[in-house]
Amino acid sequence: MSFNFWRRTFSVCALLLGFAVASPVLAQQPSRVNPTGDSVKEQQLLDALKPGGQQSISGRASIPDSRAPSIIQPAGRDWRVWRDTTLPRVGAFSLVGTIVLLIAFLAIKGRIKVEAGLSGQQVQRFNSVERFAHWLTATAFIILALTGLNITYGRYFLLPLMGAETFTAFAQWAKYFHNYMSFAFVLGIVLMFAQWVIFNIPSIRDIQWIAQGGGIFGKAHPPAAKFNAGQKLIFWVTILGGALMAGTGYAMMFPFYQAPGSLAEYSGTMQGLQFVTFLHGLFAVLMIAMIFGHIYIGTIGMQGAFWSMGTGKVDTNWAKQHHSVWADKVVPKSGAGKPAPGE
Ligand code: HEM
Repeated sequence: MSFNFWRRTFSVCALLLGFAVASPVLAQQPSRVNPTGDSVKEQQLLDALKPGGQQSISGRASIPDSRAPSIIQPAGRDWRVWRDTTLPRVGAFSLVGTIVLLIAFLAIKGRIKVEAGLSGQQVQRFNSVERFAHWLTATAFIILALTGLNITYGRYFLLPLMGAETFTAFAQWAKYFHNYMSFAFVLGIVLMFAQWVIFNIPSIRDIQWIAQGGGIFGKAHPPAAKFNAGQKLIFWVTILGGALMAGTGYAMMFPFYQAPGSLAEYSGTMQGLQFVTFLHGLFAVLMIAMIFGHIYIGTIGMQGAFWSMGTGKVDTNWAKQHHSVWADKVVPKSGAGKPAPGE
């Protein structure tokens, strides 16, 4: 017997032994996948998608991202309907509706005039720091509004005009502007708050002003101090709405950030992120609609109003008509008027 004979015999035996060990294992393989097992029951998945079902369909994953095993999140469908259909409709309704109302108001009522005519004498209404805060907030807000509206409506209006490549570049830059303008906006509302909060505390006089419809519908001019009830509303919506916009905006800028304290339960989750985008979009369109009304009254809607933020000075007859309580303090009694200091 040669050495080669023993080597071949040994190899064949080793091969046979290998098959003998491996065959039961191979034979078991198909039966380890259970097609009717819980994890693959289709009915369960469908049930979870029904209203009131599970928050998500999740499993286990070996990678550290805790959100990765979430395969289906039914709430995401509601969120997508809100973002792609409901929000654009709510926005169009409030923005176009406000513009239509303002045009109708101008057509019916005309421009609000200074009834006694311009006196030619002026009184200081806002100093340069107040005007700086206002125009900083206004500029930032307008850029935020336009770049934000692009996120909701750009694909419908600008994409067909610009083409995909140009629109992509434009939308990317618009988003950078949107993010960075937020800091200017926050600075603006902090400065506004610091300077004007004292004039915006609600008072009994506001009830009288509201009861008389701000003098818009009749001939009466309800008395008002530096700011009337309508302006106080604009102020508080700007401050509180602005704070909400900033808070929800930063939550989106740092998605899934795990906030401390009482917010811990809501932050860091998909549902939490969906909720802040919902609030951000809804308040954005409502605030923009409100600011349309504000811009209207500050420009074409009311004679003499723009200059209070333009030069800082207003005509004394304008002051007496719209802010009689404030005018009593700042307009010189002689009427021989060198400009008096603002309140
Ligand atoms: C082109 C845009 C704007 C114009 C022409 C404008 C005009 C004016 C004028 C004339 C006043 C002074 C009213 C008075 O003397 O009684 C004023 C006040 C004010 N503005 Fe604006 N504004 C603009 C944009 C904005 C924006 C975007 C915001 C906020 C996001 C804003 C917030 C305020 C607030 C809180 C006041 C004080 C309360 C009030 O008068 O309603 N403004 N604005």
